[in-house]
Amino acid sequence: MSRSDRFLRALRGQPVDATPIWIMRQAGRYLPEYRATRARAGSFLGLCKTPELACEVTLQPIERLGVDAAIIFSDILIPLEAMGMQLTFEEGEGPRLAPVRDERAVAALRVPVADEATGFVMEAIRHTVRALDGKVPLIGFAGAPWTMLTYAVEGQTSKAFAEAKRMLFAAPAVAHALLDKITATTIDYLQAQVRAGAAALQLFDSWAGALAPDDFRAFALPYVRRIRDALAPSGVPFIYFCNEGATLLADAATVGADAYSIDFRLPLDRARAALGDGVTLQGNLDSCVLFAPPAEIERRAADVLARAAGGRHVFNLGHGILPGTPVEHAQLLVETVHRLGAR
Ligand code: CP3
Repeated sequence: MSRSDRFLRALRGQPVDATPIWIMRQAGRYLPEYRATRARAGSFLGLCKTPELACEVTLQPIERLGVDAAIIFSDILIPLEAMGMQLTFEEGEGPRLAPVRDERAVAALRVPVADEATGFVMEAIRHTVRALDGKVPLIGFAGAPWTMLTYAVEGQTSKAFAEAKRMLFAAPAVAHALLDKITATTIDYLQAQVRAGAAALQLFDSWAGALAPDDFRAFALPYVRRIRDALAPSGVPFIYFCNEGATLLADAATVGADAYSIDFRLPLDRARAALGDGVTLQGNLDSCVLFAPPAEIERRAADVLARAAGGRHVFNLGHGILPGTPVEHAQLLVETVHRLGAR
């Protein structure tokens, strides 16, 4: 057994020679080689839409860090653009979308054919799978419908989600119509990624924790379950990242994912108690720990491993790696997890 199958084996609950690790946002601005490729692409969206360059940055952390899985370089907002929303990334400001806030705007959105409207993502996946040549598996991904709705309605990253929640609470039928279209788009988008060669899928519900449990059950969960059910026949392991979901896990468990990615707020032993032994836990070191000295990184990584010991586990951060993270600290983390992680 080796690096090539640790990650998929851990997702399936099979024994592994060492705890596998990958890092959310592992291709990103903390890597000098990423910044160089991004400069060549001219823009973030240009990088996402040029398969050779998207492949290049996807491979960078595989070499540099020695992680056990690759994740295709793209963004969760790409399918919203394919649905007909104007998308831009201003330098240093994050994403901007022309917001969709009423019935007419929702009705005007299309459910695109993924292979046509987002063919560049599928080409990047095919290209990357060929280049990886079996070294490590490639993860495909999408945003979960509620999280996508927040970007569609707010038009940007938000803190209070006032416009998104105004739609949920004041015009629930419009919200459900939008969630429905996003869900149909996401199912085709993920099925196309599997056909292109994705060996596992992660659904990012980055803003799940902004919902109270009743609203999570009404506006998030049914759509996540629909996506999971549609992808189940593919046999590809499915990871659900219910971010800030400590109060939502009993509900999230009903999705039937193979693995749950847990943010840093909930220790993995408590996540295990909520989710049971039949799933893999992914996580959950606080991303900011990588700013600490090596001894503290090792101590806290060992603590995460101890809390997950005896159960199915894929090591990751609790959220994305941050710009400014020392590359050698990310390398130390990977080496530490492989050295200390269960055999
Ligand atoms: O994990 C990986 O390495 C794969 C690539 C990936 C990116 N975005 C690249 C990216 C993935 C999986 C995402 C997912 C994503 N995108 C999420 C869900 C994950 C999460 O963090 O909760 C969200 C909410 C987005 C939307 C998004 N994209 C925002 C809010 C921003 C701006 C914030 C920032 O860090 O600048 C982005 C831009 C983005 N996506 C960057 C990268 C590497 C930075 C762009 C740059 O190069 O300047």
